[in-house]
Amino acid sequence: MPDTLFAKKTLADLQAQAEESEHSLKRTLSAWNLVALGIGAIIGAGLFSLTGLAAANYAGPAVTLSFVLAAVGCGFAGLCYSEFSTMIPVAGSAYTYAYATLGEFIAWIIGWDLVLEYAVGAATVSISWSAYVVSFLHGFNINLPPELVASPWQPVQLPNGELVHGIVNLPAVFIVVVISWLLITGIQESARVNSIIVVIKVAVVIAFIGAGIAYIQPVHYQPFIPVNTGEFGHFGYSGILRAAGIIFFAYIGFDAVSTAAQEAKNPQRDMPIGIIGSLIICTILYVGFALVMTGLVPYAELGNAAPVATAVDRTPYTGFNAAIKIAIICGYSSVILVMLLGQSRVFFSMSRDGLLPGIFSRIHPKYRTPYLTNAIFAAGVGLFAALAPIQLVGEMTSIGTLLAFVIVCIGVLVMRKTHPDTPRPFRTPLVPFVPIMGILSCGLLMFGLGLSNWIRLFGWLALGMIVYFFYSRHHSRVRGHAG
Ligand code: ALA
Repeated sequence: MPDTLFAKKTLADLQAQAEESEHSLKRTLSAWNLVALGIGAIIGAGLFSLTGLAAANYAGPAVTLSFVLAAVGCGFAGLCYSEFSTMIPVAGSAYTYAYATLGEFIAWIIGWDLVLEYAVGAATVSISWSAYVVSFLHGFNINLPPELVASPWQPVQLPNGELVHGIVNLPAVFIVVVISWLLITGIQESARVNSIIVVIKVAVVIAFIGAGIAYIQPVHYQPFIPVNTGEFGHFGYSGILRAAGIIFFAYIGFDAVSTAAQEAKNPQRDMPIGIIGSLIICTILYVGFALVMTGLVPYAELGNAAPVATAVDRTPYTGFNAAIKIAIICGYSSVILVMLLGQSRVFFSMSRDGLLPGIFSRIHPKYRTPYLTNAIFAAGVGLFAALAPIQLVGEMTSIGTLLAFVIVCIGVLVMRKTHPDTPRPFRTPLVPFVPIMGILSCGLLMFGLGLSNWIRLFGWLALGMIVYFFYSRHHSRVRGHAG
């Protein structure tokens, strides 16, 4: 058995794994289902919360350009994801792809890094969920105690305008626990429920754009790119870059489409349509949404976790505010569910490969779900959601996901060299141009996120190395250990 950092699973291993997959998955998903799956996982807190924060703190109205910039990085990475998802049609993620292409060590780094995308991402969305619930109840004169709805590092505005700091964000913990419980008891979102949620979310975005456009005050676009304050990332061109790294969060989720490759009717044609199609639709919606939001409200006033309500208040349609908030609150559930599900799947795979203790792949005798993983992450994600400010966790999610995208793009380049003849139902066009552009554009967005996020990323990866060298390496099944 290989005993190097580059120990790999073979493609044959992965094919066998696909076949022995417990639930032999049926090929039922059409191209439209895949696009809907993508949109269901994509539209969420990035759009409805972080757009306002990024505009207020970093880019002003030019946050619209940040959305275009982030979409470019995602587009290149999406084309690389498409090649992998059809070549290695195992329900999984970048972790599985990396194990076959770049070896165990890099796979470990990706799996560990994906905690930032999935678990920390779920915490981010649940904090935004909490903000919309608080704002919704406030509309009915129900005011939850401000100390119990925000982290100690997040100021909350009292109805009288006074700012106080929170202690713990209980609604955010609540939604994490409820969704984890659904996952433990084996309820998976059906394609039908997902389609309904997608229609609601898209309808809210289109209604917001359609109704708000008439009330845009062009003066709010002056200047469109506010002058840099002298600090990197605070307005000006570097601010657009910084904001792009933050609102990149809004695009996360299209990679979820790649996890459904085994269930696609015609993966060769439909996977790229699902991934690129959901990206294109979201980009168009996001650009329109950001333009209208920053046209309705001076950007400096958008720095709260529920900026859609702030914007709707500038139109005569304030009566719809409650309905919009309900739609957003429901729409978030599919995002949190996909993220927590993705997290438990990745740790389940890593545990089955011996890289993590068996507890992470223990299956509940009745519900047939990896219940302990779900419970452990309910506690961990709940803790983050309770105590962390949204911007911090949002940025951590973005930088972690961008790293995963960079590694996937590298993987396509490596695989073309090491396995040139393996059939590729979908080939990333213009290799090496597209993967290299993916690496550069995602790398640029990571750069824009600034030093503090890099330090946190390296801190997390350093912890991962310790676990790998002291535990995983000695238990890896690919290396012939019993696990
Ligand atoms: N893209 C997802 C969101 O914005 C993660 O909530």
